[in-house]
Amino acid sequence: MMIELESVNKIYNQGQPNEVQALYDVDLVIEANSMVCLRGASGSGKSTLLSIIGCILPPTSGRATVAGKQLSRLPDRFMTIHRRQTIGFIFQQFNILPDLTVQENISLPLLPLGVSPEERRMRAKVLIERLGISHRQNFPAGQISGGELQRVAIARALINDQPIILADEPTAHLDTKLSKEFLQIMVDLKKTGKTIIIASHDPLVTEKPEIDRIIDVTDGRVDVS
Ligand SMILES: Nc1ncnc2c1ncn2[C@@H]1O[C@H](COP(=O)(O)OP(=O)(O)OP(=O)(O)O)[C@@H](O)[C@H]1O
Ligand SMILES: [Mg+2]
Repeated sequence: MMIELESVNKIYNQGQPNEVQALYDVDLVIEANSMVCLRGASGSGKSTLLSIIGCILPPTSGRATVAGKQLSRLPDRFMTIHRRQTIGFIFQQFNILPDLTVQENISLPLLPLGVSPEERRMRAKVLIERLGISHRQNFPAGQISGGELQRVAIARALINDQPIILADEPTAHLDTKLSKEFLQIMVDLKKTGKTIIIASHDPLVTEKPEIDRIIDVTDGRVDVS
């Protein structure tokens, strides 16, 4: 399997007056090359769960194994390396830097990996063409449309050919047409062998026939039936 969580708990601000337990004893297995949807109300813990799977946040307790590595046993530095190699994250607000060009934004994750500028440009070009944004490649990202921006976010998540793609409420700010386009890109990526996890309560996503499995998140708990 690709991802395994065992009794994962996440407590923010532990021991402080503003302590929040966001996840309770989550047990979850996600198989390689599956496309799953995390569904749940606002505040139920979807983003927290994605952040743990995405090696961004460590669990407070429990065991999380992602692509063969047990995260709690990895020192921070190695967790970052593992994340860069394994996870492509499409953030809800896309997290694109508006002053950098489309091409620079897409190739940004390759910078810390020591990939040469020439190689970075080449790899970005392939994705820019695949996602149909060639005409915008030298535009500052702050000057392109929402749909184009979304493609930049997808391309950036794919630039290092990571096996796991995580998307946090990817359709929240998109119209129906762009949402459907986004899902089609995810379906095509699944065909290339990627494992895809989408946090969403959008029926367009949850009712998509290609979704292998819906995982309901309720008040920080996951019921695996
Ligand atoms: N950095 C943080 N510090 C403290 N509490 C947090 C933090 N991030 C999230 N929380 C809390 O943890 C709980 C789960 O939040 P999370 O963002 O995972 O939910 P979500 O399901 O993604 O919600 P939404 O659908 O609104 O994005 C919420 O009660 C939230 O307020
Ligand atoms: Mg969220």
